Amino acid sequence: MDTLVLKTRSLTDDIADIKTAADILKNGGVVAIPTETVYGLAADAFNPDAVKRVFEAKGRPADNPLIIHIAGFDEIYGIAAEVPEKAKKLAEAFWPGPLTMIMPKRSEVPYITSGGLDTVAVRMPSNIIANRIISLSCPLAAPSANISGFPSPTCFQHVADDMTGRVDAICDGGDCEVGVESTVITLCGEVPEILRPGGITKEMIESVIGEVRISPAVLNPLGEGERAASPGMKYKHYSPLADISVVKGSAAEFADCAARSDCDAVLVFEDDLASSSPVSGLKDRLGVVTFGRSDDSLSQAKRLFDALREIDEAGYKKVLSRSPSRRGVGLAVCNRLYRACGFNIIKAYRRPVVGLTGPTGAGKGFVAEYLTRLGCGVIDTDKIAREITDPGSDFLPVLAEQFGADIIKDGELDRRLLAQRAFADKKSQEKLNRLTHPEIMRRALDRADDALNEGEAAAVIDAPLLFEAGGDKVCDTVIAVIAPEEIRLERITARDGITEEEARRRMSVQQSDEFYTSRAEFTVISCEGYSVPEQLRGFKEKYLQ
Ligand code: TXA
Ligand code: MG
Repeated sequence: MDTLVLKTRSLTDDIADIKTAADILKNGGVVAIPTETVYGLAADAFNPDAVKRVFEAKGRPADNPLIIHIAGFDEIYGIAAEVPEKAKKLAEAFWPGPLTMIMPKRSEVPYITSGGLDTVAVRMPSNIIANRIISLSCPLAAPSANISGFPSPTCFQHVADDMTGRVDAICDGGDCEVGVESTVITLCGEVPEILRPGGITKEMIESVIGEVRISPAVLNPLGEGERAASPGMKYKHYSPLADISVVKGSAAEFADCAARSDCDAVLVFEDDLASSSPVSGLKDRLGVVTFGRSDDSLSQAKRLFDALREIDEAGYKKVLSRSPSRRGVGLAVCNRLYRACGFNIIKAYRRPVVGLTGPTGAGKGFVAEYLTRLGCGVIDTDKIAREITDPGSDFLPVLAEQFGADIIKDGELDRRLLAQRAFADKKSQEKLNRLTHPEIMRRALDRADDALNEGEAAAVIDAPLLFEAGGDKVCDTVIAVIAPEEIRLERITARDGITEEEARRRMSVQQSDEFYTSRAEFTVISCEGYSVPEQLRGFKEKYLQ
């Protein structure tokens, strides 16, 4: 097939080519068009034959649905059977822009476009060329314009490399601004869920519609037999030919890891090449490709797919990559990079995970504050314990299975009913602990990993029941905080506003000081005139660099 190259850089100068693109699309053709995220491979969304050609050109599995691109909000009513209130609010805030919303589809939308689903994904791109082409033609079904499984194209040349000879035309609209695909959010469930992170972040969305969840599949491979909420998540994605591993760790930890590896290239941040960085020494010996600045997720998003293609062009075989921050748009960068490396992740941290524990009222909080001042990230397991029983938590069904479906009413946990059942006898209480402790520890460790990835000096897991939950086994060291009984009594009555008697009752069911001190590497005795820094000097010398 001959592929026409159209110049579509300017709305005015290139209007003839823009019209040509629209004409080809109206007549059932397939055209690669620029958008602000990545290039899309477009066809008339309502023409099944045209859409079929898109699947063929990409080599895309038929059950992976396409996004329908519109140019004005009202077009949504011809596509979605139902437009939720939250969709209107999000459109108001972020359209045109890199946000795709999933809602129930109208019967007029062919199943080939929606991958056989009764829902449909819609987005209004902000790229003015895309907008004009849609206005002059029709709503366009458009996946990213790469061969299925390869990195998405962020410039004309990438599309030409992948699609020449496979499609009717390719528009040259310059480089894409964002560089990663749009955020995909489904509004079909009780709580809106982000299926794919992108340029519009969770925080931005939450500021408009409140609670939003992130699909676990965003940062984890699908487990065996697990169903993908978004069909796209089950396929290998964004994969260069090279074997890439992501190394979690600081610049120094990365440099060490790379020095010991048999990789032939590294994928690093631009600032890693400054002579002051421990990474810069690698460039004498290894190939180097960069993707953005370490403290700027937007620049990483813009460069990532480009960098992945560069790695293959240079012919590198084994590559180690720096690990980006997960914050904000960083989540989208991590999602694409983790997938590109097939979830090959190496933890090269030399910084520790520290357990912090002790009985109630002993003053763990003061020690946590001190450790924060030393640059540690503190993870509060009491908070996690509350989160796992919050409405919408995926842990609730696990509890319901063990303690009765009626402990959940309208998606909310009946805490009193659970307490009644779980504290009825020792066996039930143990059952509850066996369920909750590993879940809390798993989440705490995940956050500890995040804290170290964000560069904290250490990750501190603050857990009153650290030993009981077996958390000490996954920590590099443990600090116990104890205090004389009278001081604890005073603190508990003041803090919780309870009588001395009640406070004494609570204290009597707790472990002895000896229980903690015999198991911890370091102990802080928190009493009159005590100095935390002095008591933790040994810890600081051994574990904080
Ligand atoms: O930025 C973008 O979104 C780019 C540009 C071209 O607009 N498009 C894009 O399309 O990335 P594509 O096909 O590569 O990715 C669409 C994603 C896939 O993961 C697909 O599974 C998901 O959206 N998706 C589409 N419709 C869906 C639906 N009804 N339910 C769940 N997921 C859906
Ligand atoms: Mg894609």
